Amino acid sequence: MPRQLPVDELVSDPYPIYAALRAEGPAAAVEVRPGYQVWMVTRYVEARQALANPALGNDPGNGRWMADVVGDAVNAAMNKHLLRADPPDHTRLRRLVSKAFSGTRVAALAPWISKLADELLDRIEPGEKVDLLDSFALPLPLQVICELLGIPAGDRHLFRDWSDVIISGAHQRDRYKDMAEALVAYVQRLTAVKRADPQDDLLSDLISVRDDDDQLSDQELTAMVVLLLFAGHETTMNLLGTGLFLLLTHPEQWAALRADRSLVPAAVEEMLRYEAPLRTAFPRYAREGVQIGDVTIPVGAVVMIALQSANHDERRYVSNDDFDLARTSATHLAFGHGIHFCVGAPLARLEGRIAFNALLDRYESISLAVPPEDLRWRFSTLIRGLESLPVIGTEAVSRQRQ
Ligand code: HEM
Repeated sequence: MPRQLPVDELVSDPYPIYAALRAEGPAAAVEVRPGYQVWMVTRYVEARQALANPALGNDPGNGRWMADVVGDAVNAAMNKHLLRADPPDHTRLRRLVSKAFSGTRVAALAPWISKLADELLDRIEPGEKVDLLDSFALPLPLQVICELLGIPAGDRHLFRDWSDVIISGAHQRDRYKDMAEALVAYVQRLTAVKRADPQDDLLSDLISVRDDDDQLSDQELTAMVVLLLFAGHETTMNLLGTGLFLLLTHPEQWAALRADRSLVPAAVEEMLRYEAPLRTAFPRYAREGVQIGDVTIPVGAVVMIALQSANHDERRYVSNDDFDLARTSATHLAFGHGIHFCVGAPLARLEGRIAFNALLDRYESISLAVPPEDLRWRFSTLIRGLESLPVIGTEAVSRQRQ
């Protein structure tokens, strides 16, 4: 009988739960909500192997997932995307976007992203109490992905609510239906507008691939936009928000970064390791029996690969539960591994480096405006992120305004 994981604790403080599961073995049968049984892979080596194992597929097949809530058409328009596809569909879809997010393409965006970061911080008054999630960590990656896709500036405020409901998925089924229908209708309307009047943006490019080369169905086009929008801002927002929270609760590390900016890239990696924004990979489905350690996962089982747990595995990381910027060489699984490795990793890393440098340039120090224990984690078993991050910043002397 699989044990039920305590979802509230999994959301607020998952690490002791994962440590206990890792101590028992590399994979365990658990329920993440009543009646939903999965196999959870928790140790680093086995998680990495599972992510690259073709016997564990991403396509749920026969309309599973939220089809019972939203109906087949909306379900497909939300979900016929890379993270729910296997080769050859996955290979075809990934080819269509990988060029747009390649290292060289993305590096060219650096000056524009830096300007955007400075403009957002300019709007904050010195000494003002602000929610840095609302005023910085969310708008920065949201503006970037919307700009790349060609989402009109006036529509971007819509995504916070949509996102909140969509990441809580099965935990808010009623609201999910309304939001998913509204989001799909929005993307379809925008597609019609861009089809009539193409612009220099990724959505117009995808439409022309759809219309000229017939390499993308209508549902795949909508699902691609939905995936890029959410994957593009939700995760990066939490890298910025949670990463800043980690620095504020480890002030010596903030000081170390201010003293030596060459540490920023390693700091971003340690933030990703320590608080992986995606708690688990997307579900995998066992196409055949799969052996993980001494556990045999049966055909048809749902497998969740716990990235947060793998990133804290004591078998791989010395002082695994310490947040330590000096940990320069430890790679992690926060971007996944194998054919689904995050397409946006170069962009997310660039945004992370730019955002933290902009904050370090501007602020001598930043303090939490509430005790850390008052902060709440968003209710999602997929995304790890704070609900808000109220802070007060003291501007660096060299930047103080009159
Ligand atoms: C800190 C920020 C980010 C994190 C932690 C992150 C994490 C991940 C992870 C773990 C996966 C693989 C999931 C799995 O195997 O089930 C993934 C895939 C993906 N990510 Fe990201 N991501 C981030 C930012 C971005 C950005 C900025 C974009 C936008 C371009 C993006 C687009 C994607 C896409 C399209 C996939 C699917 C790739 C595929 O299936 O081939 N991500 N991401």
